[in-house]
Amino acid sequence: MVGPKIDILLLGIAKPAIVAGLRQHFNLHVMAEAKDGEALLASLAPELRAIASSGPTGPVKADLMARCPKLEIVSSWGVGYDHVDAAWAGNHGIIVTHTPDVLTEEVADLAFGLLLATLREIPRAEKHLRDGRWTAGDYPLTRGTLRGKTVGIVGLGRIGRAIARRLDASLVTVVYHGRTQQKGVAYRYHPDLLAMARDADVLMVVTPGGADTRALIDADVLAALGPDGYLINVARGTVVDEAALIAALKAGTIAGAGLDVFETEPHVPAELIACENAVLLPHVGSASLHTRGLMEELVADNLVSWSAGRGPLTPVPETPWPR
Ligand code: NAP
Ligand code: 8YV
Repeated sequence: MVGPKIDILLLGIAKPAIVAGLRQHFNLHVMAEAKDGEALLASLAPELRAIASSGPTGPVKADLMARCPKLEIVSSWGVGYDHVDAAWAGNHGIIVTHTPDVLTEEVADLAFGLLLATLREIPRAEKHLRDGRWTAGDYPLTRGTLRGKTVGIVGLGRIGRAIARRLDASLVTVVYHGRTQQKGVAYRYHPDLLAMARDADVLMVVTPGGADTRALIDADVLAALGPDGYLINVARGTVVDEAALIAALKAGTIAGAGLDVFETEPHVPAELIACENAVLLPHVGSASLHTRGLMEELVADNLVSWSAGRGPLTPVPETPWPR
């Protein structure tokens, strides 16, 4: 790179590969390391061309971008980017990038594992052994099974399809719901989510978060899923009406739930923690060293490619690219 290094502001947690990748090429300013974040932002904002965000802890909202009149690109960590106001950025000619594909199979593995853990009660069965209760009697037979069941995927995108492949291999019937029918898939499409909830034994939620999907899984959908039905959510906590879910789990109007995401992470309601028919994970869908490393590298690679005039590698759909 010729000329002075470009300033980059990193918002959120200083993830190691993002910091190392950016420091090689740019003049990196890490907000989390600043004594006075507001003063750092005020000094950089007038000339700032690029921001990196390390996920929901480094949100990039319209008011922040509006303070940076020369902003050209926001490189965000994670495939979900509901913490970035991408529509506002797109309307103002600002590129937003995210980290799709590199995490797809990892998240699908976790989703499939969570599905099995929930239906076959794996955490509770293990606890039965560890608590020394096996000698007194076998763990009870599980009500939940994948045998002969139908899983309804809400959001048959990259990760949804990778989950569907795992279900195919397990001889499970897959149906799906989304706003549009997907080309090139043989699974039955349900334009009506309520109808799919009535038809399926399990709902597997894997949509983006944000305003469009807020409380998509509400009390009516849970009621349609029914007392033998299970909900698995690896999307965003906001996609499920958490109060309605807690009520359904407590009343047994659904059989169980497996959740990797919550409305106000990392805070999980005590009432949900008390539900024995729920398996709860601390948002670990992509959380292996291997995959998190690839995601971090992609945050830096998007900025390197942009700064070299080659454009962003993985822009979000709202982004004005190609121009
Ligand atoms: P993707 O390829 O964009 O797939 C998203 C799917 O959701 C698409 O099939 C889309 O279909 C559907 N969708 C979008 N808006 C919808 C709506 N309003 N109602 C119903 N369906 C809707 O994204 P991806 O790479 O599979 O990632 C999906 C999401 O998974 C991410 O955005 C993130 O929230 C979550 N995620 C979680 C973890 C974790 O650690 N738990 C990790 C990675 C990702 P249509 O456009 O046809 O509606
Ligand atoms: C991230 C995710 O780990 O990519 C996503 O959308 O949800 C995960 O891979 C998450 O953003 C961490 O908060």
